[in-house]
Amino acid sequence: MEPKKYKRVMLKLSGEALAGTQGYGINFDVAQRIAEEIKELVDMGIEVAAVVGGGNIWRGRQGNDMDRTSADYMGMLATCINAIALQESLENIGINTRVQTAIEMKEIAEPFIRRRAMRHLEKGRVVIFGAGTGNPYFSTDTTAALRAAEIEADVILLAKKVDGVYDKDPNKYSDAVKFDALTYMNVLEKGLQVMDSTATSLCMDNDIPILVFGLDEPGNIKKAASGDKIGTLVSRN
Ligand code: GTP
Repeated sequence: MEPKKYKRVMLKLSGEALAGTQGYGINFDVAQRIAEEIKELVDMGIEVAAVVGGGNIWRGRQGNDMDRTSADYMGMLATCINAIALQESLENIGINTRVQTAIEMKEIAEPFIRRRAMRHLEKGRVVIFGAGTGNPYFSTDTTAALRAAEIEADVILLAKKVDGVYDKDPNKYSDAVKFDALTYMNVLEKGLQVMDSTATSLCMDNDIPILVFGLDEPGNIKKAASGDKIGTLVSRN
């Protein structure tokens, strides 16, 4: 059997990741590739929970004069669309999944019930959490942190466009330096854009490590879950 570092992981995918290069909506080739990478974890016996953002469909800041809460609720609905897309891609390749949403939409998905989510995971089902935390003002990163704490995940695998955390924006500065490891306090004090501060604090308070890595490189999800040295690890020390 292949070595594996983590038993239960929380995979956070940005909504943009599902859009691929088209930048908007869902690219099903990309969704399928991600699903196949998730299957590798399931095949290794790793329990996988996932949170997907919604930015490929709706970003709160598009709302201009819109009330923040309404804009955020639209974002939560966008995450549900993405959750169902990822569910379909996984079930296409024979992976059992459950979608659980923080806002009840029983005709479409199960409501979030922590103990039930845990049972699904124990049975090898991939559980995808939709509708954020169900509250406005909370990001999907915070959702990933909250659900990771609730389901007792060993790590948050934070899949991003960039391949780790840099001291400055690597897309703008060619001399940006990537960190191999950081503490939560480093992230908060330096104002590094890893996760928002609410999500980072939640991870810090509950001692949940965050591995930030690039999703564009095929095979990285497996490497991240296997504890290979990729990306940037944010932890207590
Ligand atoms: P086990 O009891 O562990 O086998 O879990 P299970 O999820 O298979 O049991 P259940 O009989 O509760 O669910 C059967 C199917 O119905 C699964 O595909 C669930 O995702 C789905 N399901 C369960 N509850 C809901 C719900 O509230 N809404 C929707 N839309 N589907 C649900």
